[in-house]
Amino acid sequence: MQGDRKMGRAWKIIFFSLLWSSCLALEGGMLTPKESRSREIKELNGVWMFRADFSKTRNTGFEQRWFTKSLSESGPVIDMPVPASFNDITQDPRLRDFIGWVWYEKEVWVPQRWTAVDSGQRVVLRVGSAHYNSIAWVNGAQVTQHEGGHLPFEADITRLVQSNPSQPCRITIAVNNTLSLHTLPPGSIQYMSDETKYPAGYFVQNTNFDFFNYAGLHRPVLLYTTPKAYIDDITVTTDFADSTGLDKLQQHSTLTGLRRTTADLQKDYTFSAKTECFNASCSTVHNDNERHASNALWCYYHPQHCSYTGSNS
Ligand SMILES: *[C@@H]1O[C@H](CO)[C@@H](O)[C@H](O)[C@H]1NC(C)=O
Ligand SMILES: *[C@@H]1O[C@H](CO)[C@@H](O)[C@H](O)[C@H]1NC(C)=O
Repeated sequence: MQGDRKMGRAWKIIFFSLLWSSCLALEGGMLTPKESRSREIKELNGVWMFRADFSKTRNTGFEQRWFTKSLSESGPVIDMPVPASFNDITQDPRLRDFIGWVWYEKEVWVPQRWTAVDSGQRVVLRVGSAHYNSIAWVNGAQVTQHEGGHLPFEADITRLVQSNPSQPCRITIAVNNTLSLHTLPPGSIQYMSDETKYPAGYFVQNTNFDFFNYAGLHRPVLLYTTPKAYIDDITVTTDFADSTGLDKLQQHSTLTGLRRTTADLQKDYTFSAKTECFNASCSTVHNDNERHASNALWCYYHPQHCSYTGSNS
């Protein structure tokens, strides 16, 4: 009973910490960052520090809080290329077939012009994909947690990099490749209880697919900046018009008929303006002091549509 209650409490703590960490992660359009006059990209591809948690529970990294200091201080590390699957990088069969948490770390200098508090920049950490479950920390603070091996995820790390600009930024990412009935593709973990045949705690990953469960940081990891007011998402909706619409169809080969585009702009999570573009003319619907900034962003994407028609109301 006592044990059950403790377990219940442990689960509650895990649940609420996951809930909290997922709140820090960015929501929204996850537009692929493109370099521009107002946006810089720093690729973190190359050699990272790496350590697989070979402990029986696979949990030693969390118990010893490997994310709080350089991974090399936690024990033996190896070089690991990113992006890549860790499985085929060494000749160690234990790493090839490893199931559980592996830890990656990279120290990176963030340019001074990004870290100045008055820089007007947002700094975002973006992981192209990590198979399968991952948790990311910056300078020891958890910034995001993500489930799913194939899609990108991001975290706004502006405050973290600006609070300690004289030190390199330490990025730690733990990735767990365990497949369960809730993952894509699904799998299951089987513990071998016969201790005459297997070492204590021995388990295997069962799968029902005909490819190898490659894992690790599979796509590029990067830092990028945006101005404080930035385009979070773009929605394009299309519609038919009568005979006039057919003309439009010829002009915009990927769109049908009338074109209507909406961009939601966010500033510091509190500001939100909506720029609506209908055919070639844009106007800002919800207006405030940031009207010009948001319009300027819109113009970057669609210079040909940049006849600004907003009013002060
Ligand atoms: C991580 O890996 C271990 C070992 O396979 C497994 O027991 C655990 O459920 C995994 N956790 C997550 C969040 O995938
Ligand atoms: C957009 O273009 C269509 C077709 O030329 C026209 O019928 C419509 O009035 C235009 N809408 C606006 C808001 O300008």
